[in-house]
Amino acid sequence: MPFTANRAFKRAPRLLVAAKDMHYIAADGRQILDGTAGLWCVNAGHCRDSITAAIREQAGVMDYAPPFQMGHPLAFELAEQLARMLPDDIDHVFFGNSGSEAVDTSLKIALAYWQAKGEAQRTRFIGRLRGYHGVGFGGISVGGIEANRKQFAGQLLPAVDHLPHTHDLAHNAFTRGQPEWGAHFADALEEIVTQRGASTVAAVIVEPVAGSTGVLVPPKGYLERLREICDRHGILLIFDEVITGFGRLGASFGAERFGVLPDMMTVAKGITNATVPMGAVCVRRGIYDSVVNATASGIELFHGYTYSGHPLAAAAGLATLELYRTEGLFERAASLAPYWENAVHSLRGSRHVIDLRNIGLVGAVELEPRVAAAGARGFETFLKCFEAGVLVRVTGDTIALSPPLIVAEAEIDRMFETLGDVLRRVE
Ligand SMILES: Cc1ncc(COP(=O)(O)O)c(C=O)c1O
Repeated sequence: MPFTANRAFKRAPRLLVAAKDMHYIAADGRQILDGTAGLWCVNAGHCRDSITAAIREQAGVMDYAPPFQMGHPLAFELAEQLARMLPDDIDHVFFGNSGSEAVDTSLKIALAYWQAKGEAQRTRFIGRLRGYHGVGFGGISVGGIEANRKQFAGQLLPAVDHLPHTHDLAHNAFTRGQPEWGAHFADALEEIVTQRGASTVAAVIVEPVAGSTGVLVPPKGYLERLREICDRHGILLIFDEVITGFGRLGASFGAERFGVLPDMMTVAKGITNATVPMGAVCVRRGIYDSVVNATASGIELFHGYTYSGHPLAAAAGLATLELYRTEGLFERAASLAPYWENAVHSLRGSRHVIDLRNIGLVGAVELEPRVAAAGARGFETFLKCFEAGVLVRVTGDTIALSPPLIVAEAEIDRMFETLGDVLRRVE
């Protein structure tokens, strides 16, 4: 089982058997309020009729079409619709099946781009500590989670540096939204670039808001400063928007929310409302043109997946984007964000709580770890919330919440009342 304590799980399984809108049904018949949109991905709520119908219909028309030297219209239509949502000249899309594939694809496109530009020596990547970029070899190399690397050490990408993360409780505990303090964390990029030589650096990759390691909201001015430094040295900036895309922050993408334009964006999860696996890399026109025009004829990018732009995923993606539009879900997330923020911060003063963080419809409750048992209190909190009928996510001792964007205020209240109640009972 992925990222799961297999033996413990099999002794006491937690099985979900059905889902609709804001709720799961567990195997024992209990209704579970989904506080995490599955895994940050079911942004429009579960089993939405229009998406289900689009998948069903496409499965009966054409189940599959090979994507190498062939194509099908829905993949192009989805790419065009995405391009219309994406900022500025980010208007070309390469499809894969997951966030991990999107990340590794983006790193390969960065290398291909620099070769095309005649700067093949630009091979170094810069990620960030506490960054999560999936589980491919590229993703774990640029990612900043030691636990995800140590079983596979010795075979990672060879030229990678990491920026410091921006999490600092001494300065920023209990901040609502973006911290005022901490833009200077970006200056570490200048130092790395000076040390390595700008002409060796291909790309910097960061999540606009680090999700998986506990919702680390970027300090004001931080992403802007990363962009400035990349511009000064001609380095590509990749935003991994696998979590922050599709309304999660109350805007289409993090790039729009923070007003910072990257050169590439990786997306997945909410692109199909998690109904059919799909991921994508979205690139600025100049990157596409450079790579495609670098060869006189023939295949321009030696990369692709059997299921790139799969017809069922493309149909699901088109229906999902339409649902986001017709229900105004990104605007809904933005207008609910102040209510959400107050709900998150209502836990201030609760037992064990050492920090509360929020942005858009994402929140984090960081708990004081138990002595010599980091993560134990967080995991127990997660289990007790599930017993109490609310699904939350746990990373170490941080509880993260990121509900579907259709969440009602009463459901937000229930999530935080349940969590508050559980924290009173957890040792
Ligand atoms: C920022 C980010 N990048 C990449 C991934 C990997 O996505 P997947 O699990 O679909 O491979 C995730 C997954 O949570 C993510 O949060």
